[in-house]
Amino acid sequence: MGKVYVFDHPLIQHKLTYIRDKNTGTKEFRELVDEVGTLMAFEITRDMPLEEIDVETPVQTAKAKVLSGKKIALVPILRAGLGMVEGVLKLIPAAKVGHIGLYRDPETLKPVEYYVKLPTDVEEREFIVVDPMLATGGSAVEAIYALKKRGAKNIKFMCLIAAPEGVEVMQEAHPDVDIYIAALDEKLNDHGYIIPGLGDAGDRLFGTK
Ligand code: PRP
Ligand code: URA
Repeated sequence: MGKVYVFDHPLIQHKLTYIRDKNTGTKEFRELVDEVGTLMAFEITRDMPLEEIDVETPVQTAKAKVLSGKKIALVPILRAGLGMVEGVLKLIPAAKVGHIGLYRDPETLKPVEYYVKLPTDVEEREFIVVDPMLATGGSAVEAIYALKKRGAKNIKFMCLIAAPEGVEVMQEAHPDVDIYIAALDEKLNDHGYIIPGLGDAGDRLFGTK
């Protein structure tokens, strides 16, 4: 079963409150999502493996550590996932970025795939899939199937807010994928929106309706 990590760092929680606030406008919403993306990237990279190398300081040779694990690929689920990309890249600037385009059919709430573009060396990379919302879980589950179908083996999923329903669906479909969230909310409403949530992440990020 995939583990669920809630990043309860005070800065993340503070910024998330203003992301939730309906009075936060598009510009500030975008900036805050970007900032939380960076803070979450700091937390999600905690377990990255290190190796020791020799480095010449101006004084003498020292044993020091550098990253040694798999290279990262970041995959936003379009479109709202795009809002987290730049923030994560601030800490992992060499990551490659793939894209998976999915939208939820408003009637069925089922995800519909419309675009997939990934780095060529899929099997060599550790993937971090990003999307602000994990609601019914349909989009994340489909996105991760799309990655696995193309050879991805090592996948993490990171979002701002998750509903318990979405977490359960994800854990069932992808028990090998750990989930990293800033908040686990109460439930879904009848329209598949997270309560209390933040509303429609894509619309709030891009100023659409
Ligand atoms: C939102 C959100 C997730 C999805 C979550 O995207 O960004 O991708 O809904 O819901 P789920 O867990 O029930 O699948 P949406 O479909 O609204 O598309 P958008 O990003 O283009 O706005
Ligand atoms: N997608 C969103 O953007 N918000 C929700 O609450 C649920 C799905």
